[in-house]
Amino acid sequence: MGDQEEIRQDARATVPDGALVGVVGAGVMGIGVAQCFAEAGHPVVVTDNDPGALASGPARLRAGIRTAALLRRGDRRTAGGATGSRTESLVTWSASLADLADALLVVECVREDEDVKASVLRELDRVCRAEAIFASNTSCVPVARLGSFTGRPDRVIGTHFMNPAPLKEAVEVVRAPRTSALTLERTRAFLARVGKHALVVRDAPGFVTNRVLMLMVNEAAAVVGEGTADAETVDRIFQDCFGHPMGPLRTADLIGLDTVADSLEVLRRHTGEDRFRPCPQLARLVAEGSVGRKAGRGFHEYATPQHLVTRGGPGHD
Ligand SMILES: NC(=O)c1ccc[n+]([C@@H]2O[C@H](COP(=O)([O-])OP(=O)(O)OC[C@H]3O[C@@H](n4cnc5c(N)ncnc54)[C@H](O)[C@@H]3O)[C@@H](O)[C@H]2O)c1
Repeated sequence: MGDQEEIRQDARATVPDGALVGVVGAGVMGIGVAQCFAEAGHPVVVTDNDPGALASGPARLRAGIRTAALLRRGDRRTAGGATGSRTESLVTWSASLADLADALLVVECVREDEDVKASVLRELDRVCRAEAIFASNTSCVPVARLGSFTGRPDRVIGTHFMNPAPLKEAVEVVRAPRTSALTLERTRAFLARVGKHALVVRDAPGFVTNRVLMLMVNEAAAVVGEGTADAETVDRIFQDCFGHPMGPLRTADLIGLDTVADSLEVLRRHTGEDRFRPCPQLARLVAEGSVGRKAGRGFHEYATPQHLVTRGGPGHD
């Protein structure tokens, strides 16, 4: 029997149906990821240290469920999926990481700041079961670095969900050198159960997605800042000339310009390359609070809330 077959036959190679899973961070991504898991019938505990995020979480989840149902035109995306109200009832909210003690898989979705992620991972390592997998939704921090904050680097993996998570079919899965084959297999099987396929890549700052996307967004922002074209024209060029469903600046607005700037800084720190420095136009928008769709304005103006986005945009962040 080969390694892979042995792993497949290992009972621990699955996160069982209905197992408790955890999400840390009730932001844009955390809520979407929690929705994916609950729709597949898993009870989910979502934690956040911001009482405001916890208070608004249920309403944002409800809105996400409604929007996804609308855009899927009533189709079920996962076998054994839950209905809207059942999905909502499977998600509970907590201010304490200790409530993740029984989770078999925890997805870290806190802001793109290595120090914040380090403190969350250290605490998770203390409170969670020894066999629990820690998956990070980081955009750019090398997964090996995140694993080093725990005593279980073999059970730390990157699961880079795109935004909006419930509507995307694939997850960029990042295997660090110390991530075990069993962890990879358990994660892949779990993602398949929630209706996502894993695109597995090796560990590097920004992986594949954001090493490429963040540079493109930063250059597009610089083009606007230098007056070569306005944001609408830049985006239309990508849509009408290249056939992209969404231009780089609308994509950046959807991600959140603060998250884009944080990601570029993480890339610059880990690569030492100045080409990842956020350009002045991007830095200016972040400094004035025009951070994209979640603020109602960024490179573009928005009348509709964050969750009313159409399916089929490029892989977002
Ligand atoms: N926004 C995107 O399109 C996108 C896509 C893919 C990956 N990501 C990545 O996902 C992660 C989350 O991004 P987001 O856009 O959801 O950010 P966000 O700012 O919307 O949400 C982050 C949440 O983390 C919470 N948080 C911060 N510190 C915490 C702590 N110590 N303990 C518990 N909660 C804490 C905040 O209160 C906030 O609610 C980041 O690493 C980001 O780079 C974002």
